[in-house]
Amino acid sequence: MSAANEIKNEIERRRTFAIISHPDAGKTTLTEKFLLYGGAINTAGSVKGKATAKHAVSDWMEIEKQRGISVTSSVLQFSYDGFCVNILDTPGHEDFSEDTYRTLMAADCAVMVIDGAKGVEPQTRKLFKVCTLRHIPIFTFINKMDRDALDTFSLLEDIENNLGIATCPRNWPIGSGKDFRGIYDRTEKKIVVYEGTEKGTKEGEEIHIALDDAEQTAKYIGEDALAQLTGEIDLLDGAGASYDLEEVRAGLLTPVFFGSALQNFGVEIFLRSFLSMATPPVGRMSGETMVDPAEHGFTAFVFKIQANMNKAHRDRVAFMRICSGRFDADKEVKHIQSGRTLRLSQPQQLMADERKILTTAYAGDIMGVFDPGIFSIGDTVCAPGDDVRYEGIPTFAPEHFARVRQVDTMKRKQFVKGITQIAQEGAIQIFQEMQSGMEEIIVGVVGVLQFDVLKFRLESEYGVEIRMDQLPYEHIRWVEKSPVPVEDLVGTSDMKRVKDMKDRPLLIFVHEWSAQMTIDRNEGLVLSEFQRN
Ligand code: G4P
Repeated sequence: MSAANEIKNEIERRRTFAIISHPDAGKTTLTEKFLLYGGAINTAGSVKGKATAKHAVSDWMEIEKQRGISVTSSVLQFSYDGFCVNILDTPGHEDFSEDTYRTLMAADCAVMVIDGAKGVEPQTRKLFKVCTLRHIPIFTFINKMDRDALDTFSLLEDIENNLGIATCPRNWPIGSGKDFRGIYDRTEKKIVVYEGTEKGTKEGEEIHIALDDAEQTAKYIGEDALAQLTGEIDLLDGAGASYDLEEVRAGLLTPVFFGSALQNFGVEIFLRSFLSMATPPVGRMSGETMVDPAEHGFTAFVFKIQANMNKAHRDRVAFMRICSGRFDADKEVKHIQSGRTLRLSQPQQLMADERKILTTAYAGDIMGVFDPGIFSIGDTVCAPGDDVRYEGIPTFAPEHFARVRQVDTMKRKQFVKGITQIAQEGAIQIFQEMQSGMEEIIVGVVGVLQFDVLKFRLESEYGVEIRMDQLPYEHIRWVEKSPVPVEDLVGTSDMKRVKDMKDRPLLIFVHEWSAQMTIDRNEGLVLSEFQRN
């Protein structure tokens, strides 16, 4: 096979998706079952053992284990039915929605897991909104049907109303909880019977019965369930949105599937279906030009940076999504932002603590590379002669602020190093008082849990204990243009003047209306809600 054909074939079979959910909806269990079908693990439970109930293979940091919240995102790769699948895990808590956003930048589609008993949960609405911002296809799996679930029509309505995306059920549950009898496959017009497949296996034989085989159907699911199902299907066929692959791919319609990840029911049907609906990597814009994944040479962008992932190696890893071509470990690449040509060091695929050194990878794949401190989130790398520059990843405006000091003054150096590195990862933003140096640091975060992560990481990774005083500010504005030095602006009583890491001046306010008041009081003042890089 020619090199061009090989690249084309490899890219064509790649599917790269992010998996999002409210904590406890069953994301880990579902991921584990995917890996089981992909042959990446042999027995269920190796991702999430009973003894260590609250952390999975994909959780790296101690804090996640303690809190049961996925703070960082991990990547897993497996093969299934000829596809090469990359799953990107995302934090399940809205306080980390910025991290979720960056991860979604690296995914071509998303799988959304919902607990059938709970529907769309309030704190995850924000995460799902972030997902719809990207207009990528979203596939929904309604989980835990082996437990009593909400009415199916209400669940769909909930998704439509809360997330603003049309739904199209591809299968339909027959009862739930102890009355759960299986699902009706709308494409095949067949019933797949739930026989409580053996936990943790993929062998559970599926029994398929055509709906019009009344005798068999009644035998397996009972007369009552059959009557209810027929009624619901009629209603659905009459009123529900019709299936339209174009709309799915545009992120306007989400195909919905039902099942139980724990009982291993409906998972493979879901996997098979969404892989066939999802697209292989699509082109990305570099300025006005669309970079074709298969035709163009190697390009990638950094969507995440993380320090100290593994305590055994004190390191910093830049996560890259390959957008086009093939990556060869022994070839040099160009880092567009610095103009430097370099060899990416220790390129690897990461599976939690396990790392596999890569020699080649293709568009759609995610790799981690050792970062000597040159990469920033959003940076592009490409072949040395190329000049592709992907659009940067926007930063979310922080909504919570705190003044941070180290307790032990002797630990200043470690404190500054730690806080600066964590800020470079994009987990927090740091600001200083206009006139002061690094002794007074103001930290801004999108979600308050990030304060806890900061405190924990400074202590565990840098040995620095900190004191944190939360400040009342909630609104941030960068000063784009000022008629006078920022110190001389006529402000409001709830305003504070600070500067960011690049010495750019900005104002933080307790009340949003004060920003407008300040503009009114200073003719020629231009404020921006966004940070421009
Ligand atoms: P998450 O990653 O989204 O946070 O959820 P996770 O998979 O950890 O699942 C959360 C809990 O829900 C786990 O129970 C898990 O066993 C259970 N669960 C997941 N899928 C299903 C399902 O389809 N049906 C039922 N009945 N339960 C499900 P746990 O008690 O917290 O942990 P464990 O002791 O069972 O491991």
